[in-house]
Amino acid sequence: MPRPQSHFVCQECGTVHPKWLGRCESCGAWNSLVEEAAGDVGPKGLGSRGKGRPIEFVGLRGDAAPQPRRQSGIAEFDRVCGDGLVAGSTLLVGGDPGIGKSTLLLQVVAALAQSGARCAYISGEEAIDQVRMRALRLAVAGSAVQLAAATSIRDIAAALDAASAPDIVVIDSIQTMFLDTLDSAPGTVSQVRASAQELIRLAKRRGFTLLLVGHVTKEGIIAGLRVLEHMVDTVLYFEGERGHQFRILRAVKNRFGPTDEIGVFEMTDAGLAEVPNPSALFLAERNEKASGAAVFAGMEGTRPVLVEIQALVAPSPLGTPRRAVVGWDGNRLAMIMAVLDARCGLAIGANDIYLNVAGGLRIAEPAADLAVAAALVSALTEEPVPEGTVVFGEIGLSGEIRPVGQTEARLKEAGKLGFDKALLPKRRAKTAAKSAREGVATIAEIGHLKELVDRFTAAAPVRRRAS
Ligand code: TYD
Ligand code: MG
Repeated sequence: MPRPQSHFVCQECGTVHPKWLGRCESCGAWNSLVEEAAGDVGPKGLGSRGKGRPIEFVGLRGDAAPQPRRQSGIAEFDRVCGDGLVAGSTLLVGGDPGIGKSTLLLQVVAALAQSGARCAYISGEEAIDQVRMRALRLAVAGSAVQLAAATSIRDIAAALDAASAPDIVVIDSIQTMFLDTLDSAPGTVSQVRASAQELIRLAKRRGFTLLLVGHVTKEGIIAGLRVLEHMVDTVLYFEGERGHQFRILRAVKNRFGPTDEIGVFEMTDAGLAEVPNPSALFLAERNEKASGAAVFAGMEGTRPVLVEIQALVAPSPLGTPRRAVVGWDGNRLAMIMAVLDARCGLAIGANDIYLNVAGGLRIAEPAADLAVAAALVSALTEEPVPEGTVVFGEIGLSGEIRPVGQTEARLKEAGKLGFDKALLPKRRAKTAAKSAREGVATIAEIGHLKELVDRFTAAAPVRRRAS
């Protein structure tokens, strides 16, 4: 049988299939298989070319002092990178088209160039004039960034593989780059992977920091870049709602720093502005007297962030009530509703439920459970959460409220923003004694979810919408 001339590669996970399928057998993605020429991928083994040169082993301690990290001076960016860029490392910046990746990276390289780093910005999507226009708008046209419009990895490598290679290289975007040794089109998994591999190898050899831009598909997966996540040192996601002006830069992988840090930016007429105090921004348009809203004192990495959680509970005209969640985990919502129902006797299940984290932030912390429950119960009873209250705590399946970390930091942030009451899990006496100094005067410790429900139902009897 002749060897097949082409095969089908899943653009989500990179699995190679001999024939076309509607659904990738490996990752389950639909319509993700794209025909690519055979020979691009595939193990060949060592073959019969004889033995290689044995590698040398060295000790863990080296002579050379580690190179200092390069800070751009844009604090929100530097913190997410783990306090600056590491020479020879590769960062992948993923995000929806139009979210502001090019804007952010142009601002970053311009700032780095100001501090003396030699920076190159290679655009495969925009023409030189377009990038220049953006630079004018961002008021960074004066900085010494080397600009080029190119897509051929061979040409780019020829320019970068020199002793005078820049310190920082931005490739915008990796999906537009191609290697002429492959037959597949730019943007396919094989091209993206091979192009990135070449660039990463070059970055290691020449010691420059490589910043790759990658577009994300609708489903939130970097198109064809899943495979890249393993190859790069750091993966940053730039997220936010298109309608909102907030943008959040989040580290999801970092070989040189923590992964739970976020950087908050605001998209303005003159580019991205740092938001050093995101809590004030997230709480800006809040109506304190409305029911169905609770302020969650959360942690994003090392930083406390206050954010409003909003719930709407309405009798459902449908047999299967509707659930819509923005900014939080839908399964976690289902769990909290089940606990409210089974452990607190609150008939909430027959209602349509909408839950929204205000400001476009996405919360992953279980500590938000209690705030979500407070918003739900407040919406159901139409009794507002008392003014000036922050809420946090994890809910267990039996309805117990479990302690969460960083209580002090959360309370301190709340106090700073003028909150004087807190609903939180039971604490040890030692930590409780500190609260007076934390600026939150009234602390109510909650042991069981029922205690929270009682606070609302005491003020307003639950309207039994379900029955
Ligand atoms: P861009 O950086 O091109 O996004 P990406 O590279 O992720 O595709 O950002 C484009 C959006 O940002 C566009 O909708 C216009 C907006 N924008 C501003 O609001 N202000 C600005 O100063 C700039 C440069 C862009
Ligand atoms: Mg762009």
